Amino acid sequence: MKIAMVGSGYVGLVSGACLADFGHDVTCIDKDPAKIERLQAGIMPIYEPGLAELVAGNVKGGRLSFTTSLAEGIDGAQAIFIAVGTPSRRGDGHADLSFVYAVAREVAEHLKGPAVIVTKSTVPVGTGDEVERILHDAGLPFPVSVVSNPEFLREGAAIGDFKRPDRIVVGAEDEFGRQVMQDVYRPLFLNQAPLLFTSRRSSELIKYAANAFLATKITFINEIADLCEKVGGNVQDVARGIGLDNRIGSKFLHAGPGYGGSCFPKDTLALLKTAEDYDSPLRIVEAVAKVNDSRKRAMGRKVIEAMGGAELARGKTVALLGLTFKPNTDDMRDAPAIAIAQTLQDAGVAVVAYDPEGMEMAAPLMPGVRMVGNAYEAVTGADAVALVTEWDAFRALDLDRVKALVKEPVLVDLRNVYRPDEVRAKGFAYTSIGRA
Ligand code: UGA
Repeated sequence: MKIAMVGSGYVGLVSGACLADFGHDVTCIDKDPAKIERLQAGIMPIYEPGLAELVAGNVKGGRLSFTTSLAEGIDGAQAIFIAVGTPSRRGDGHADLSFVYAVAREVAEHLKGPAVIVTKSTVPVGTGDEVERILHDAGLPFPVSVVSNPEFLREGAAIGDFKRPDRIVVGAEDEFGRQVMQDVYRPLFLNQAPLLFTSRRSSELIKYAANAFLATKITFINEIADLCEKVGGNVQDVARGIGLDNRIGSKFLHAGPGYGGSCFPKDTLALLKTAEDYDSPLRIVEAVAKVNDSRKRAMGRKVIEAMGGAELARGKTVALLGLTFKPNTDDMRDAPAIAIAQTLQDAGVAVVAYDPEGMEMAAPLMPGVRMVGNAYEAVTGADAVALVTEWDAFRALDLDRVKALVKEPVLVDLRNVYRPDEVRAKGFAYTSIGRA
C-alpha cells in the first residue's frame, strides 16, 4: 500500500520507517528542506535507538523516501497520515492545531483520488470533525474518510512500541476508513496486536485519557514516596506490593523527580482545557499537573537539604548526572533537571552536569550550568552528586573512584538506582526517593 506521512518529526519518522519495514511504500513529507536533505543523507533529526538503521534499510529497499513536496508525496497514497506537532498554545495551554489544519487544507488542495486521512498527531476531541469539514468544503469528487489513530510510542523505545503494541486504536466513522486502516496494520495482526475500532471522538479521547492516567499513576507513587520518607517505609516495596495486584499493575510505579517530556505535561494541560471547555472538570488530573510541577523544584531543595541546608550549600557545587527527561533520548522538554538546576542556582549553588546525549539540547535551557565530557569529570571537586536521569552509564559507577574525586561524598539518587546499604558502606551520605 502507498502511504504518505506528513510531518517527519519524532512520531512521523518512527511511524513512517516502521510502516515501510512492514512492506508498505512510504513517503515522509516535511516542509523543512534542511531536515529532508539530512534525512536523505541518512542523518536523523532526533536520537532514537535503532532508527537510523531502520531508515537506512528501508531507503535501501526502496520502500521509504523523503520529500518536501506534499503534492508529490500524497500522489497515489491510500492513507495519508498527519503527524505534525500540536504544541501547547502560548498563553492558554490549548493544543495549537494550526499545523494540523494547514496540512488538511493542503491535502484537500492536492488530493487526486480516494484516500483515508489519518490523524496521528495528538489532537483534542473534535479535531477530526474539523479536518473532515475542511476536506468536505473542498468539494472533492471522490470519497475521503477521516480517521483518528493515536500513537502510544515511548521515546527511547519507540520502534519496539510500534512493532509490538499493546493495542492499536482506530477511530473511524465509516467502512472505507476501517478497511484501509485494517490493511495498514495487517502485518501486526500476525503478532495478534488487538486493533480496537471506536468512534473518532472516543479515539481522540483515549490518547489523552491514557497519558493522563499514566501521569496520575506516577504522581500517585511520587506522593506515596514522600509519605514513605516520613513514616519510615520503602516506596519500592510499596510499589511492588500494590503492583502485583493485576488490577493495579506494576508499570509506571517508579518514584522519581516528577514526569517530564513532550507528552505528559502538554497532554494533561490540553485535556484540562478540553474539560474546561465542556464544563466537565477533571479534578484528579488538575491535582496531578500541580503536584508534578511543584515536585521538580522540590527535588532541587532535596539536594540542598542533603548538603546540610541552604546556608551550607551556598557557594558550593553540585554535579548533576543525567539531564534528559528520561534515558535513551536527547529530549529536554520539561525535564526535571531544568527546574532542579534553577533551584540550585537560585540558592547560590554552582551546577556542573553531564548527560550522554542531551547536553546540546540542554545547554540553552540551563544557562550558567557547566557541561563536561563524562560522569567522573562532572563529580570531580563536587560537594554533592545528584543522579537525575537513570542512563545505563550511571547504573554501575565506580563508587570508589567517585568518592576519591568528589570534595564531599554526598549522593542524592533521584531515581533509586543504587542500594542504600551498598552506597553507605562506601562512605557516602546517601539520599534517595521514598526510602527512609
Ligand atoms: C509517553 C507515554 O508513555 C507513551 O505511551 C505516549 O505515546 C507518549 O507519552 C506520547 O504521548 O507521545 P514518553 O513521554 O516518551 O511516553 O515517556 P515515558 O516513558 O512515558 O516517561 C514519561 C516521564 O515519566 C519521564 O519523565 C519518566 O522518567 C517518568 N516516569 C515514567 C516516572 O517517573 N516513573 C515511571 O514509573 C514511569
